[in-house]
Order: sequence, then C-alpha cells, then structure tokens
Amino acid sequence: MSSAVKSFCSRWTSLLLVLTLSLVLASCSLRQTEPDTIRIGVTVYDEQDTFIASLIQSLQQDAQQAEVRYGIKINVSVADGKGNQTTQMEQVDRFIKQGCDVLCVNIVDRTAAAVLIDKAKEAEIPLLFFNREPVEEDLRRWDEVVYVGAKAEQSGVLQGRMLVEAWQDDTERWDKNGDGVLQYVLLEGEPGHQDALLRTEYAAKSMTAEGLSAQKLAGDTANWNRGQAASKMRLWLDQYGDAIEAVISNNDDMALGAIDAFLEKEMEVPLVVGVDATKQALDAIEQGTLYGTVHNDADGIAKALLDLCLTYSGILEDSQAPHLEKGHYLWFSYQEVTAKNIDEWRQSLN
Ligand code: GAL
Ligand code: CA
Repeated sequence: MSSAVKSFCSRWTSLLLVLTLSLVLASCSLRQTEPDTIRIGVTVYDEQDTFIASLIQSLQQDAQQAEVRYGIKINVSVADGKGNQTTQMEQVDRFIKQGCDVLCVNIVDRTAAAVLIDKAKEAEIPLLFFNREPVEEDLRRWDEVVYVGAKAEQSGVLQGRMLVEAWQDDTERWDKNGDGVLQYVLLEGEPGHQDALLRTEYAAKSMTAEGLSAQKLAGDTANWNRGQAASKMRLWLDQYGDAIEAVISNNDDMALGAIDAFLEKEMEVPLVVGVDATKQALDAIEQGTLYGTVHNDADGIAKALLDLCLTYSGILEDSQAPHLEKGHYLWFSYQEVTAKNIDEWRQSLN
C-alpha cells in the first residue's frame, strides 16, 4: 500500500472510532435524561384525616428525595376513598389499568381486603396495606402482600401507663371528688377499626393492671373526628359536669375536640390523653391542655412504604429491603409523649 492510501485508511479508522464513541456516549446520556419511572398508586380511606394526611405528605417528600438519590422518576398518585369501599375498589382498578408498579392501600373497610388482594395478585402488582389492618388469613392469600403499621395494643398500654403516672404524681389535682377512683369518659375511633378496639381495651386493662381503680362514666365513637368529639363531650358535660376526671381518647383529634368543649364552657380541663402526636397535639401539650399522647409513627410508616416500593421495583437490593415479620408484616413502635419528655422527644426527631 502506498503511504498516501495508508494514511487515508488510518484517518477513516479514527473517524469511525470517534463516530462510534460519540454514538455510545449519546445513547448513555439519553438514558440519563430519561430515567426509569416508578408508578405508585396510593388510595386512602379519607384524605381529611389528620394523621393520614401527614403520612401521605411524608411519603411524597420521601419520594422526591429518592428521585434525586437514585436518579429515577417516582410518580405517586393519591386517590381519596372518601369512606366508600366501592369508590376505593374503582380507584384500585384504575391504578391497575394504568400499569402502576406498586399499590399502597389504606383500606376503607378492612373486611374487603381479600377481593383487593385477588385483584393485585391477578395483575401481579405488589400490594402494601397500611394503617388499617386486614386479618392475617387475608394477607396469606399472596406472597407480595404486606401490612405496614403499628401495634394497636401497645398504644393502649402506654395510654394506661401515662394515666397511672399522672394520677400517682398528683392525685389531689385529678381526683376531684376525692374518692380515690378515676372517673373517666372514653372517646372511641371508628367502630371496627383495630386501633379503636384495641386502644379502648388495653388502656383500661393497663390502668387496672397497674393498680389504679377507675370507673367509666360513658363511652362512644366520634370516628377519629375533632368536631364529632366536641359535640359528644358537650352532651357528657351537660350530663356529668364536674364528675369527669379524665378523657381517654383513641386519637389526638378527638382529644382536642374534648378539650374544645371544656374550654367553650370555661371549665377546667381534666386529665386528657390521646394518640398520634400530631402537630396540634404537641402544641396542646406545651400549652398544658393535653396531658399526653402516644406517638404513632407516620414518618416511619411512610418511609417503609417507599422502601418497599423501591425494593419491589428493583431499585433497592433485597439486602437493603425492610425485614418482614412472618413474611407479611412491618411493625412500628409507639412512644409516649408528655410535658416531661416533649423537648427531648422533639430533639430526637431532628
Ligand atoms: C389511627 C390514627 C387515627 C386515624 C386512624 C385512621 O392509627 O390514630 O388518628 O388516623 O388511624 O385509620
Ligand atoms: Ca374520683
């Protein structure tokens, strides 16, 4: 080959090399600008519920952070079941049709879980229940079904202990009629909800187990709702007045509703305890109207849901996946918060 031909060939080879290289680079950068998208379909029993709203807000924030961390797009669609199981079923059908990768369901009616699990199984879409717990038999219908939540009885036990502690610290203050017995009313959450049933049962059991004699004057549901609790409390105040020495509430919103009723009537607020540790409840503890609450870990539950979504979508490796008890459960602990530990507790969150 003449030297002119040789140099022509080698120039061609380098040109080809450069071309191939730039093509490879272009396709890589293309992939970077078009990240994988994970689609998460979430439906809640009621978007207006304070605790659920904060859990969803936390989930959305976690998803945004994960987009940056893993260089992916995470599409979280949230539907509101508005307390209607039929509506929620339709929302799940829609998520399945849209090709969601994972379903997160805060089920309206816990007894409807089996139908939902069968739908998810047929579509092969992992299903994560949270906060409203289906029975174990239902969860066992398919491997890719998980329940994320907190153990209800623990919150009841902690409430009972808080009451005993308050009573022992200052019996004179709380025992208004001086009979050595704690007269209380009980505000229950939705009928049939595991948290309402078990908190009610274990708060009373743990008070008596710790040697406090207590007498229930009245108890009724106010469906987790502040307004409904205030109305109920107004009726009880008309009926029992000063005889009410404590209000045990299955959640904070209802505890705050009860306090609203006492304040409206310009009556001294008795010993009131709630569950959740919502922002408003923590403020009320600082103001001295709410004696205490039990922290229900909305942020922890949200983070676990997202980690499970990332695991099922193959973004997190199995070794990084949250550990599931009995193959189906992820549990969170409750923690008590009163004026005694609120500062320390707030700091531990940061
Ligand atoms: C409970 C919570 C309530 C309410 C309910 C909804 O765990 O304490 O405030 O949010 O869940 O299912
Ligand atoms: Ca008394």
